[in-house]
Amino acid sequence: MSLNYKGQNLFIDNTSIKGIAKKNITPFYVYSYKKIKNNFETFYNYFKKVSPLVCFSVKSNSNVSILAELGKLGSGADVVSEGELLKALKARISPKKIVFSGVGKTDNELKLAIRKKVLLINVESESEALLINKISRKMNRVTQIGIRLNPNVDANTLSKISTGKLDSKFGLPSKNFLKFCKSSKNLKNIKISAISVHIGSQITSVAPYKRTLNAIRKIIRLSQINFDYVDLGGGFGIQYKNKDKKIDIKKYSYLVEKFQKETNCKIIFEPGRYIVGNTGALISKIVFIKKNGNKYFVILNAGMNDFMRPALYNAIHEIVSVFKSKKRISGKIEFVGPICESTDTFLKYKNFPYVKEGDYIAITNVGAYGSTLSSNYNTRPLASEVIVKKGKIKIIRKRQKITEII
Ligand code: LLP
Repeated sequence: MSLNYKGQNLFIDNTSIKGIAKKNITPFYVYSYKKIKNNFETFYNYFKKVSPLVCFSVKSNSNVSILAELGKLGSGADVVSEGELLKALKARISPKKIVFSGVGKTDNELKLAIRKKVLLINVESESEALLINKISRKMNRVTQIGIRLNPNVDANTLSKISTGKLDSKFGLPSKNFLKFCKSSKNLKNIKISAISVHIGSQITSVAPYKRTLNAIRKIIRLSQINFDYVDLGGGFGIQYKNKDKKIDIKKYSYLVEKFQKETNCKIIFEPGRYIVGNTGALISKIVFIKKNGNKYFVILNAGMNDFMRPALYNAIHEIVSVFKSKKRISGKIEFVGPICESTDTFLKYKNFPYVKEGDYIAITNVGAYGSTLSSNYNTRPLASEVIVKKGKIKIIRKRQKITEII
């Protein structure tokens, strides 16, 4: 992450977190623009040789200011709902750079996407393609679609975020894919322009991607369709802890270059976590500290409604103190939220720099699926979001007012 200590104080890109915390109600999300830019450019440069269209996956972070910054860097958007589509458009991302994914798009969502002429609607069922054809006929349009292939590939990631196996609800298995390509020939208001895939998230090895490329090759060969685009999805894993395995994107890029030469299709990617995951921290204040049995409970004012990943996936997000004391507390220490559920817990430590009530801590690497997964559970308002850009602090989402949710 872009957090580092200067002396005993925690900084994000040379800006003191304590300084930001004094001016904002905790909990709040803080992001580093520099890191977002750097991640986007790093990702693009890996695949530079194939000049891909990178469609940032909006579900990972849908803050309109962040989308606008990514848009300025050249990013498109991968959206999955009317709301995400409208946010991407508000961020001035061109519809020509927007792909619309999702298994259950509604009539209204499809109408909007067709009317706005998004680059691709990635279709996940035969019925959806028929509906797009019907709506497009009424609008006197021919709509470009991609068909999402379910390549039956195990992404070797958490089962809860795995999407590429036949037993998952996503995409069309290759048999159905090929059958549909044949039967859709008389659907005059859709054009099958792309194959799309997305096999899962937080993937840390190249092997499942390689198997997916092979599954796509097979479809291209058997369908005998000249696809304009191949949308390879997202899923690139990041290091949450220093010890975590790092995905070798360079190695994957060679495979993609070879694939692109053979097929001559324009390549699309839909990364989310890789672009924003390590760019944000959730800053929270310690409300109380108490000792139950032999364990210290450090009770924060951030809860699972603000940041859900530990409760939902047992995800590990390191916690660091905003002022790092030279003394340490040893013994069992558990950081928990204020919510009335035992899953409202963040992380346990065996020792930690000494902290006291009223101090600030930062939960790290929460830029992806942090604020987007937050909720109003326990009638708690959504936290604010702040970005640090070139030494300036900008509020990019105000804290929700309690009156808005009553
Ligand atoms: N494209 C499609 C069609 C997707 O479904 C997803 C994520 C992405 C792209 C972006 O994947 P990424 O590059 O971020 O891995 N809430 C979970 C992750 C769910 C991912 C859902 N789909 C988590 O917090 O780990």
